Amino acid sequence: MVFKSYYQWAAIALAATAQLSAAQTTTSCNPLNKTCSADTGLNKYRLNTDFTSGSLGRWNTTAGTVTSTDLGAKFTVSEQGDAPTIESEFYIFFGHVDVKMRAANGTGIISTWILESDDLDEIDWEQISTYSTEIQTDYFGKGNTTSYDRGTTVTVTTPEETFHTYSIDWTSERIQWLLDGDVVRTLEYADAVNGKNFPQTPMRIRIGIWAGGDPDNSEGTIEWAGGETDYTEGPFSMYVESVDIINYNPAQAYKYTDKTGAYTSIKAINGTNISSNLATSSSTGSVSVTASSTAVGSSSTAASSSSSAASAASSVSVVSGASASYYTSVFVIAAVSLVAGLVQY
Ligand SMILES: *[C@@H]1O[C@H](CO)[C@@H](O)[C@H](O)[C@H]1NC(C)=O
Ligand SMILES: *[C@@H]1O[C@H](CO)[C@@H](O)[C@H](O)[C@H]1NC(C)=O
Ligand SMILES: *[C@@H]1O[C@H](CO)[C@@H](O)[C@H](O)[C@H]1NC(C)=O
Ligand SMILES: *[C@@H]1O[C@H](CO)[C@@H](O)[C@H](O)[C@H]1NC(C)=O
Ligand SMILES: *[C@@H]1O[C@H](CO)[C@@H](O)[C@H](O)[C@H]1NC(C)=O
Ligand SMILES: *[C@@H]1O[C@H](CO)[C@@H](O)[C@H](O)[C@H]1NC(C)=O
Repeated sequence: MVFKSYYQWAAIALAATAQLSAAQTTTSCNPLNKTCSADTGLNKYRLNTDFTSGSLGRWNTTAGTVTSTDLGAKFTVSEQGDAPTIESEFYIFFGHVDVKMRAANGTGIISTWILESDDLDEIDWEQISTYSTEIQTDYFGKGNTTSYDRGTTVTVTTPEETFHTYSIDWTSERIQWLLDGDVVRTLEYADAVNGKNFPQTPMRIRIGIWAGGDPDNSEGTIEWAGGETDYTEGPFSMYVESVDIINYNPAQAYKYTDKTGAYTSIKAINGTNISSNLATSSSTGSVSVTASSTAVGSSSTAASSSSSAASAASSVSVVSGASASYYTSVFVIAAVSLVAGLVQY
């Protein structure tokens, strides 16, 4: 029953939220409550990591073991508790990220990558292995999980057999999710409770896999993950071939100058001149960029990237509103469980 499940999930969301907050206070400094040290920035316009190269580059493994293989960085769940995760050493402040990956097989296995900030702004892509023609998008503003209308489901062809490029293009004005270069969802600043819930603070990139269907998880989480994970069918592996990052406001560090969590309150320290940085960036790849100067701390970030984002006119398929109440109620749990899962391990 959908309604029964909805309430189950709602209850789990509350429990998980508490867990999340508790975990966060012990693992990081939330700039909305405290004065925190500045975030290390990606001090260049573009950084590409080829995970088939034998190295994880500027990524730290925060849980489990992640290895570089011929297919890319390999994230494997083979037994209970496995949740290998990497994160970028640095933060970006608006930007474009392409993750070329193949999701894991199995039941209840979640292959995911997210952008996340210190005050819990978050932008997500998540693939639940049980549903092999779907991938989900979601976002959170300042850890606010009270809304059930943030998630969407996007159709994707054989994500567990085919490498696809899952992208996020993030500016102060809107967020776009792109699948293989086509925009599949756009979130305008104003549509996120007039910006209040709009992700807008410096983000780190996190990539990981976990078992939503672990028998020890709550019934609701297992249900959301499409059933119990049977580890004897494993191991289940996700591969990330490459990650291409463009930072629209390259700087050595980002500092929250007050406790609002507004992008206008973020100060970029020792910022890089994008125009001069572009000369070196564009020689390394096919990216073509129209960048004007960025005015961090003022009204807008002006850098606008093309690269794969240029084909912005593509088809949009977003599940939203009442028609998707069944799915959307679940997204909250998805992300909360993800973070809980990551933190827990
Ligand atoms: C920050 O403060 C708000 C309000 O004072 C509180 O609700 C929230 O739980 C706090 N968050 C953290 C991570 O301490
Ligand atoms: C990530 O790795 C770098 C270099 O290996 C290290 O200097 C840094 O402290 C690590 N960061 C975290 C958050 O562990
Ligand atoms: C959380 O989001 C809801 C809408 O989804 C909004 O009504 C509420 O004001 C937000 N709460 C905070 C503390 O921003
Ligand atoms: C995924 O697992 C199912 C069931 O075990 C199997 O039929 C299918 O071939 C697998 N797909 C891949 C890509 O391994
Ligand atoms: C900014 O640059 C100055 C001069 O190079 C340096 O002393 C300072 O540590 C830098 N600040 C940060 C936050 O990196
Ligand atoms: C940024 O670099 C470009 C090209 O090198 C230069 O023309 C411009 O004056 C620089 N802008 C600033 C603010 O330094």
